[in-house]
Amino acid sequence: MIKLLFVCLGNICRSPSAENIMRYLVEKEGLADKITCDSAGTSSYHIGASPDARMREAAKKRGIKLVGKARQIEDFDLEYYDLILAMDKSNYQDILSLDLKGKYRDKIKLMCDFTSKYNDQEVPDPYYGGEAGFHHVIDLLLDSCQGLLNYLKKDNLI
Ligand code: 4NP
Repeated sequence: MIKLLFVCLGNICRSPSAENIMRYLVEKEGLADKITCDSAGTSSYHIGASPDARMREAAKKRGIKLVGKARQIEDFDLEYYDLILAMDKSNYQDILSLDLKGKYRDKIKLMCDFTSKYNDQEVPDPYYGGEAGFHHVIDLLLDSCQGLLNYLKKDNLI
C-alpha cells in the first residue's frame, strides 16, 4: 500500500481536490487496495472545515464529489506518508521546514512535476479569485494526478 498526502495552505481548496481526484482515478483503475489518499494544510486557518463551496461546485461539474474535513499537517505525517505532494512552492518550503533533519526530503514533491498538458509550476491558489480559477485547479489536478498515477505504475511503486 502506498500512502499519498496532498498539501496546500488551507486544506479547503486545492489539496482536498487533489485528494478526491486522485482517489477517483485510483478507483477507476481498480487500484483502491494499493493506493490511499489524504490531504492537509500547512496553516491552521480552516481546521475542521469542509471543502470550499466554490471548489466543490467546480469539481461537481467534472463528476467528482469533494469530501473531507480540513486538518493541519504535523511532523509525524512526514514519517507516515510515502509521498507528500505540495501544491505550490510556499507549501513545499513549509513542509520542508517540518523536516528538521532532512530525513524525508525525497518524499516531498511538487504536484506540478506530474503535469504533462500544462505549463504551470504551481497549482495556483484560487481562494481570492473568480470561478475560472477553480476550474483551472480541477483541470490541472486531473492532469497532474493522472501523471502521478502513471509514474507510480511505471516505476512499479504499486
Ligand atoms: P487552499 O486555498 O490553500 O487551496 O485551501 C486557500 C484557502 C484559504 C486561504 C488561502 C488559500 N485563506 O487565506 O484563508
